Amino acid sequence: MSSRSEAITCEFCIALQVRVLYCITGASSLVLKPKTTDDVSRIMAHCDKRHLAVVPQGGNTGLVGGSVPVFDEVVLSTALMNKILDLDEISGVVTCQAGCILETLDDHVAERGLAMPLDLGAKASCHIGGNVSTSAGGLRLIRYGSLHGSVLGLEAVLASGEVLDCMSGMRKDNTGYDLKQLLIGSEGTLGVVTKVAILCPSRPAAVNVALLACNSFADVLKTLQKGKAMLSEILSAFELIDSASMMAVEKYLHLRNPLSSGEFYCLIETSGSHAGHDEEKLTAFLDSVMEEGSVCDGTVAQGITQQKDLWALRERVAEALLREGYTYKYDVSLPTRHFYDIVVDMRRHLAGAAVLGCYGYGHVGDGNVHLNVTTRQYDADVGHRIEPYVFEWVRGRHGSISAEHGLGFKKRDFIHYSKAASAVAWMKRFKTLMDPNGILNPYKTLPE
Ligand code: MLT
Ligand code: ZN
Repeated sequence: MSSRSEAITCEFCIALQVRVLYCITGASSLVLKPKTTDDVSRIMAHCDKRHLAVVPQGGNTGLVGGSVPVFDEVVLSTALMNKILDLDEISGVVTCQAGCILETLDDHVAERGLAMPLDLGAKASCHIGGNVSTSAGGLRLIRYGSLHGSVLGLEAVLASGEVLDCMSGMRKDNTGYDLKQLLIGSEGTLGVVTKVAILCPSRPAAVNVALLACNSFADVLKTLQKGKAMLSEILSAFELIDSASMMAVEKYLHLRNPLSSGEFYCLIETSGSHAGHDEEKLTAFLDSVMEEGSVCDGTVAQGITQQKDLWALRERVAEALLREGYTYKYDVSLPTRHFYDIVVDMRRHLAGAAVLGCYGYGHVGDGNVHLNVTTRQYDADVGHRIEPYVFEWVRGRHGSISAEHGLGFKKRDFIHYSKAASAVAWMKRFKTLMDPNGILNPYKTLPE
């Protein structure tokens, strides 16, 4: 290697590092908005031939920089690929283009008594293709499972422009390798998802939302265990807000917490087909947890407006923290008994550092905690104190360093904390096979 190319490589690495630390905005001068799979195919074939890097972009709501250009990549937006193609009311399978907005899809299937199996705070702007490409988790994974189960069919355009047709509306299909699974969660590095078929459950006729306060995390665990046992098939969400996060939504968004005390708040949702049956189960559960003392206070929403208000307390935590300053965001999976230990330990670890707060909230029902640390502005010292400490901590508990947000640009260098070297090596082989010129979403998911 000549000294000149060494210098270039070094400058390049520094430029990448700067982008990881400070910004993920890129400097793209071209955004293409195809309408059809054929358009995407022709764009990819052209770019592959000319070795032009391409970033597939949906609603741009990701949190790890997976859908933004790092340098001057061409942005391929799915915004105009927003056609709902079919809805089979009997099987519950909706087929659509990748650019359909999640909430629009949910409204559409609702007219036929169905619901999308996925729900998240960004539902009003995220695209289903982005959800599938990132294997988005969300608020109801505890009930409906991940997109690896709900996506029955998928079409993607590969880097060469070839269309990979894995479309199917069948729940059972045991013919050969399930190639679509490789695309789900690959963050647009292996192909551009253009079409999907998704299995929708029946829309629940009866929904209840309760907010419960607990004095300790041990009490949260008791409540969760009892909730799973007593609410079983009607439990559709079990979310956690710690008192610091609750104070943040009150302070920055002026939302009202209806409960007066509690170190932790559990937002519990039930969804079923028979209001009387569900209320009976919920009442028995609430009586039981109040009686044994694991819940110290609670409220059940009366009507849809109150349900939305309670959900806002949980869904808008991230937004509240953004108002506080710079947020260091971690999205990790842990064995449930360690779910909150990471927040307690991080507070201890950061004692004396220039941080404003250390927050824990998230999907306690499925073991996915969102650890957020805020500072007045970006502070490299704080960053170095948190990383790689936080990733080592998670690896020590056999957790995942990215539960639902993906690796994107920001977390890709930490993949080794959650995946064995042999697995990463095979990922790289798949990448080389499917995108030999490395034009699809470069600098994302896999480390250099
Ligand atoms: C959430 O559950 O609120 C989202 O994943 C966003 C976040 O982690 O901040
Ligand atoms: Zn989340």
